[in-house]
Amino acid sequence: MAAARRLLSKFCPLSLILVCFSYYCCCSSVEQEADRVERLPGQPASPGVSQFAGYVGVNEQHGRALFYWFFEAQASPSPELEKKKKPLLLWLNGGPGCSSIGYGAASELGPLRVVRQGASLEFNQYGWNKEANLLFLESPVGVGFSYTNTSSDLTNLNDDFVAKDAYSFLVNWFKRFPQYKDNDFYISGESYAGHYVPQLADLVYERNKDNKSSTYINLKGFIVGNPLTNDYYDSKGLAEYAWSHAVVSDQVYERIKKTCNFKNSNWTDDCNAAMNIIFSQYHEIDIYNIYAPKCLLNNTSAAPADHAFFANDLEQFRKRIRMFSGYDPCYSSYVEDYFNKDDVQKAFHANASGLLTGKWQVCSDQILNSYNFSVLSILPTYSKLIKAGLRVWLYSGDADGRVPVIGSRYCVEALGLPIKTDWQSWYLDKQVAGRFVEYNGMTMVTVRGAGHLVPLNKPAEGLMLINAFLHGDQLPTSR
Ligand SMILES: *[C@@H]1O[C@H](CO)[C@@H](O)[C@H](O)[C@H]1NC(C)=O
Ligand SMILES: *[C@@H]1O[C@H](CO)[C@@H](O)[C@H](O)[C@H]1NC(C)=O
Ligand SMILES: *[C@@H]1O[C@H](CO)[C@@H](O)[C@H](O)[C@H]1NC(C)=O
Ligand SMILES: *[C@@H]1O[C@H](CO)[C@@H](O)[C@H](O)[C@H]1NC(C)=O
Ligand SMILES: *[C@@H]1O[C@H](CO)[C@@H](O)[C@H](O)[C@H]1NC(C)=O
Ligand SMILES: *[C@@H]1O[C@H](CO)[C@@H](O)[C@H](O)[C@H]1NC(C)=O
Ligand SMILES: *[C@@H]1O[C@H](CO)[C@@H](O)[C@H](O)[C@H]1NC(C)=O
Repeated sequence: MAAARRLLSKFCPLSLILVCFSYYCCCSSVEQEADRVERLPGQPASPGVSQFAGYVGVNEQHGRALFYWFFEAQASPSPELEKKKKPLLLWLNGGPGCSSIGYGAASELGPLRVVRQGASLEFNQYGWNKEANLLFLESPVGVGFSYTNTSSDLTNLNDDFVAKDAYSFLVNWFKRFPQYKDNDFYISGESYAGHYVPQLADLVYERNKDNKSSTYINLKGFIVGNPLTNDYYDSKGLAEYAWSHAVVSDQVYERIKKTCNFKNSNWTDDCNAAMNIIFSQYHEIDIYNIYAPKCLLNNTSAAPADHAFFANDLEQFRKRIRMFSGYDPCYSSYVEDYFNKDDVQKAFHANASGLLTGKWQVCSDQILNSYNFSVLSILPTYSKLIKAGLRVWLYSGDADGRVPVIGSRYCVEALGLPIKTDWQSWYLDKQVAGRFVEYNGMTMVTVRGAGHLVPLNKPAEGLMLINAFLHGDQLPTSR
């Protein structure tokens, strides 16, 4: 009771305490309840989904606010799991400029996904909130519904900016949802979030040192999928993958080996010309899932990726870490249909006063084009956080040509960690779901036949993987 009162006084003005009977009705929970989403348009009547959405301010001076969508964990059937609070998992998509709500939540791993034609939602039985409380964040400002009132912010974005705002978001989100402060907290994401995730983990780790008490975040680890990690290894891996998967000829590959020094991030004209042959081949198929059918709709907002090829603007392509792929390769147009509906925005507490200009887009070209790519390798951050004892996993859909498994293997090997258990298969439904290798301090997992968006391409495998990560379990090593 005393503890509850202390909590109350920390979060509530006195007048509110007087009318409160329990901790759950104090001001943080008034704000929290205001964010509750009863039901979204087109949402199935059952099963029930406990969800919240809204804005969290991250910078008062500039008027920056980030938009989130949060799902409580589904009730757990197992009593021993019930004893322990279920973890809190943050998910981030990359781009830079792509929405974690459009991709992560509504297309990949959220419990509610947008169905074809964008008219409604379906329940995803492989939602990652089975055993975790699941938080999606549209980051940075300028992405999705997240915004800034200071337009110059939009041309000042880099990894450092993104991490700091995401950290402020977390601090303020925990003020609104204090009941999750003690839960184990993990950060996850894919693609360019291969930068965001370890960088945010690092910032939390550092700030935890400064402020043990009030803003302490109970971070336990992170997991990234098909992550941009190290410019050199990722570029080398891209070229080798294209050659080894019969995308380009031996002659092209020889030319790339001769002309490209990927250690220099500014490719020479000769290297650009050779790499362009790879990219023009990938233009014919879906680079993000090389064995899947290509999306042939030519008017989705995902389509401008093609400009890169037509304009022969390699730099443009190299920045473009966005993705549309999967079994239904035209996916992103459906989410754009859905999130641009007035009633959906209203139910979501998004764009409340209609102040946001333009349309909600799954990826923002403006952000991508102005983003300052200043960090070329995240590996030093891995080394630091592994030493700090965080749980660190990297997974890779092995049919992705954009951030291929080969480059990720080079990255992990470059960390020089001793091997704990050798490379071996893991199984689901009596089939090989992928392979994994455990190092002292880190685990690497592949997902067989999945592209860039593992939870979309291989949902059952994705769920098994995230649950193993969250529990710190080994993946199943027998059929
Ligand atoms: C941005 O400006 C609008 C209009 O003045 C205001 O209502 C809103 O609160 C501001 N947002 C933030 C995060 O300060
Ligand atoms: C630590 O907390 C104090 C008081 O709450 C705050 O003023 C300060 O900015 C915090 N420092 C960091 C690094 O977050
Ligand atoms: C990259 O190299 C080209 C010449 O190959 C040069 O013109 C250009 O300024 C360089 N760009 C950067 C950012 O170093
Ligand atoms: C794509 O656009 C071209 C012309 O801009 C049109 O001829 C073609 O039918 C379109 N394809 C599809 C699948 O809509
Ligand atoms: C693409 O264009 C067709 C024909 O103009 C239209 O019916 C369809 O709604 C468009 N799709 C998107 C995602 O804009
Ligand atoms: C916000 O709402 C206004 C008014 O309904 C609408 O014109 C605008 O397109 C919306 N912005 C976004 C980003 O959805
Ligand atoms: C990009 O970011 C780096 C690191 O923060 C900074 O030193 C550099 O000045 C920035 N470049 C531009 C063009 O803003």
